Amino acid sequence: MARNAIERPPGPSGLPLFGNTFAFVRDPLAALQRWANEYGDIAYLRFPGRSTYLLTDPEHIERVLVTESHTFTTGDLRRDAFSGIEDESLAVSEGQTWQRQRQQLQPGFYRKRITSNAETMVKHVEQTVDRWPIGTTIDVMREMDRLTLAILTTTLFDHEMHENQAVVRTAVDTLIQQTDYSEIGTIIPNWIPTPANRRFQQATNDLHSLIEDLIRERRHTDTDGDDLLSLLVGTDDTTDADGGLSGTELRDNIVGLLLAGHETSALALTYTWYLLSKNPAARRQLHTEIADVLDGTAPTADQLPELEYTEQVLLESMRLYPPIYGIAREPVTDVTIGGYTVPAGATITIPQWVVHHDGRFYDDPDAFRPARWSAERDSERPEFAYFPFGGGPRHCIGDQFALMEMKLVLATIAQRVSLELVSDAPLDFTASVTTRPTAPIEMVVRDDTV
Ligand code: HEM
Repeated sequence: MARNAIERPPGPSGLPLFGNTFAFVRDPLAALQRWANEYGDIAYLRFPGRSTYLLTDPEHIERVLVTESHTFTTGDLRRDAFSGIEDESLAVSEGQTWQRQRQQLQPGFYRKRITSNAETMVKHVEQTVDRWPIGTTIDVMREMDRLTLAILTTTLFDHEMHENQAVVRTAVDTLIQQTDYSEIGTIIPNWIPTPANRRFQQATNDLHSLIEDLIRERRHTDTDGDDLLSLLVGTDDTTDADGGLSGTELRDNIVGLLLAGHETSALALTYTWYLLSKNPAARRQLHTEIADVLDGTAPTADQLPELEYTEQVLLESMRLYPPIYGIAREPVTDVTIGGYTVPAGATITIPQWVVHHDGRFYDDPDAFRPARWSAERDSERPEFAYFPFGGGPRHCIGDQFALMEMKLVLATIAQRVSLELVSDAPLDFTASVTTRPTAPIEMVVRDDTV
């Protein structure tokens, strides 16, 4: 039963005016974890001008993301984060506009289309490993980032990017800085011409020009390519009634896919290499499975179901280090959650980071144990105790693409080399739109693969 409408869930008291801002900014991930531990499944957080409800009960999460998803929008946190860079993309649109865009983009992610990319993906991975002589030290995040960007642009846009990778890289870096919640400067609005905001504006302009050139070029090329860009170019500049995308929507969606689709997979792979290096038994088991299944040949899409342990390693890595640490929603009308009234327009924060480490759903939650994901054991926990890709109608459109890509990357690299951490330093994170390591993760390339 709903309590008195003004009664709020328990939560940290915070400072006058600033509420919990400083505690959050100091270390966002630790703060969310602490508040969930102290106040339970629904906690009330105070930020200037923003009433925030932290939800960590899988049943409440499922209601918000899935069963009652029509009552929630993605809210202004996400819109503000991407403001000026992809204002008219799928990730920030709502209602019928969102539905129309999702329908237009979906064919690019049909299973058949994704699996037809397996060979191209493997080719890129092989070229990457060819650039790593045995004994050299690599910056894993940088290497995974380059690799996933190359895979994304060739498979979705049939374009190699080459020297233009730097433009995308700079745009991502400035976006991350703009939304790095541990930097107090992120609360300054984008339109105030600070040096950081000017850099962001320049990076955004460069990225928009690059994509506009790419679209123009494709319009004038007489190909009937079946990559996503060719499909979308065929539908733009039509009217909404035709269900197509406007010119700006097309550009913003290409930008959105570029940004959402490579850094996330690169992070998941980076953390996976880190965890494998820290856990030699798991690493050996992975190498053994890959050697047994592939028998010295390059992996194919058909072999992926047999790479069971490889998949478990990836799932466990995204549990411990979800590339996106939290999802936001806003109710469009007052809703009752956990007996409390959450008013229309409040911010709801749903942190994968916290739920994935919850001892109620995972034994020894901080330990890396890929075997948790064996079919029998996996079925024991609530569905929304694990949601690295979100859930419900707005779940990640690229989840199957990412899973296949990451499996192929792991298998192709681990078949040829192993990666060993140079330093024992613990990981530290920047909690921005993604969960990024604050410092480079350096690893030595070894040729022992058993
Ligand atoms: C390991 C890799 C990835 C992770 C962990 C990830 C995670 C997520 C999460 C948590 C969301 C938000 C879901 C929500 O609000 O309920 C999301 C949305 C989205 N992702 Fe991913 N993602 C990954 C890879 C990709 C790839 C490869 C693409 C495209 C090529 C992509 C494109 C998108 C888009 C366009 C959205 C917005 C969907 C919408 O609002 O309808 N992501 N992703």
